[in-house]
Amino acid sequence: MTGAILRRRDDGATELRVNGVFVMDDVETSSEQALARTVIDLGAREVLVGGLGLGYTLRALLASAQVSRVVVAELHPEVVGWMRDGTVPGADLLADERTHVVVGDVREVVAAQSASSLDAIVLDVDNGPDFLVHDGNAAVYGSDFIEVCASRLRPGGHLCVWSMNDSEHLRRAMGDHLSDVRAEAVDVALQGRDERYWIVAGARQDDVAGSY
Ligand SMILES: C[S@@+](CC[C@H](N)C(=O)[O-])C[C@H]1O[C@@H](n2cnc3c(N)ncnc32)[C@H](O)[C@@H]1O
Repeated sequence: MTGAILRRRDDGATELRVNGVFVMDDVETSSEQALARTVIDLGAREVLVGGLGLGYTLRALLASAQVSRVVVAELHPEVVGWMRDGTVPGADLLADERTHVVVGDVREVVAAQSASSLDAIVLDVDNGPDFLVHDGNAAVYGSDFIEVCASRLRPGGHLCVWSMNDSEHLRRAMGDHLSDVRAEAVDVALQGRDERYWIVAGARQDDVAGSY
């Protein structure tokens, strides 16, 4: 597995690439922040974030006094290290007493949470289910892992997934275990191009078993 690198562009922007794949820059971050606002607006207090990246989702969550705890799962230790040593902004986010960063695969970090302990899980570890940064991440969008996510949510809690496309496969897998599954468009301008990204959300039904 190849790791993460930072690239400083000629226009002054910083890009994050994972396993050779562009995942984001620090210029257009509105969809990453929209991911946080989606769960804040749904009333979330305790949240698990899959993928630290450049920290825009985390910063938007911590900006809300409503949010009392954020568990962040980040696969690549260098991503956390850059934030900690000031290579990228965000040391204040890691120092916030509400933040708990775990270096590891989001699937293992979610599975390690107690049943019915989270108000929201937000996943932004790839460019979406059809644009993976690691082949193994395909399982993140599969029915089995979504079932595990559902069991870690409180009844009425939400799973929200960032995606480059409105994936029918993802909506179907989420619909196996969550109710009210919907995809909302976020229009952005990325390096001069108009793009439309998606946040796919679903709510835990009350009858999910908590025995995983
Ligand atoms: C698009 S970035 C996240 C952006 C973040 N939402 C933000 O606001 O900056 C994706 C992040 O997920 C991480 N990642 C990729 N696969 C992962 C996995 N299986 N588990 C945890 N983190 C993963 C990458 O290393 C990268 O830091």
